[in-house]
Amino acid sequence: MSLHGKTFLVTGAGSGIGRAVARQLLREDARVVLVGRRATALRESAGAAADQQALVHPADIARPVEAAGAVRAALNRFGGLDGLVNNAGLARFGPLADADPNDLTAMLDVNLLAPVHLIRAALPALRAAGGSVVNVSSVGGVLAMPRRAVYGASKAALNSLTRSLARELAPRVRVNAVLPGPVDTPMYDDLGLAPQQVAQLRDDMVESTPLGRFGTPDDISSWVCRLLDPEAAGWVTGALIPVDGGRTS
Ligand SMILES: NC(=O)c1ccc[n+]([C@@H]2O[C@H](COP(=O)([O-])OP(=O)(O)OC[C@H]3O[C@@H](n4cnc5c(N)ncnc54)[C@H](OP(=O)(O)O)[C@@H]3O)[C@@H](O)[C@H]2O)c1
Repeated sequence: MSLHGKTFLVTGAGSGIGRAVARQLLREDARVVLVGRRATALRESAGAAADQQALVHPADIARPVEAAGAVRAALNRFGGLDGLVNNAGLARFGPLADADPNDLTAMLDVNLLAPVHLIRAALPALRAAGGSVVNVSSVGGVLAMPRRAVYGASKAALNSLTRSLARELAPRVRVNAVLPGPVDTPMYDDLGLAPQQVAQLRDDMVESTPLGRFGTPDDISSWVCRLLDPEAAGWVTGALIPVDGGRTS
C-alpha cells in the first residue's frame, strides 16, 4: 500500500472498526490522528505509536467546534491531511414509539452531521493533498430497518452525502463509503436493548448473512485502507461498497 508517511484522521478510533483502521494505518507507517471521547481507549489503540507516529486527540465530534478542533490539531501536529475516516457512530435500536428523543437526535448528530462538519473543516487540507474521505456507513442505509429506522435513515443520508460530495469535490478529493454488515464490536453492548434481545438480534443477523458469520473489524479496515490508498483506489469515487458477508446480495 502507498500510505507510508501520509496523515489520516480516524474518528471512533478507540474501539471496534475504528481501532482496526487506526492500527492498520500505523502498520503501514502512516501518521494517524485518533479521535473519540475516551482518551484511554484511544491511547490503547495507538499503543507504542502514541506521541510519535500517532496523535491521540479526545473530542466529542457531535459538537461542531470540537470536530473542527480535531482537524486543527491534526494540521498543527503533522502539517497536512491526506485522508479522513468518518467511522464514529451511534446505534440505538428499538421501536420508534418507545425511543428517547435525545437518542434520535444524537444518532443524527454523530452519524450524519459530525461527518459533514469534519469534511468541511478538512476540505482545504484534503484539496491541497489530493486526499480522500471514507465514510463508514452501514447496510442499514440500504435495507429496510424496522426497530432501527432512524439509525438506518442516518446511514442512508450518509450514503447520499457520499455520492453527492464525490461529484462536488472531484477531481481533487475522492469520497467513498464502506457499508459493513454485522461486525463483532462493542457496539452490541450499547444498543439500548436487554441482553436477551441482543442475543436474539445476533442470531438473526448471522442467519440472514450468507457467509454465515459476523464480520471482524479487520474485514472492514482492509477495505477502508484500500479506499484511502491512491494507488489502489485512485480512480474510485462515489462508491458505496458493501462489506457484509453477502447480507445485501
Ligand atoms: N458493528 C457493526 O455491526 C456495524 C455494522 C454496520 C455499521 N457499523 C458502523 O461502524 C462504525 C464503527 O462502529 P463499531 O461497530 O466499531 O462500534 P464501536 O466500537 O461502538 O465504535 C463506535 C465509536 O464511535 C465513537 N463515538 C461515538 N460517539 C462519539 C462522539 N460523539 N464523538 C467521538 N466519538 C464518538 C466511540 O468512541 P467514544 O465512546 O470513546 O467516543 C466508539 O469508539 C459506526 O459508524 C457504526 O455505525 C457497525
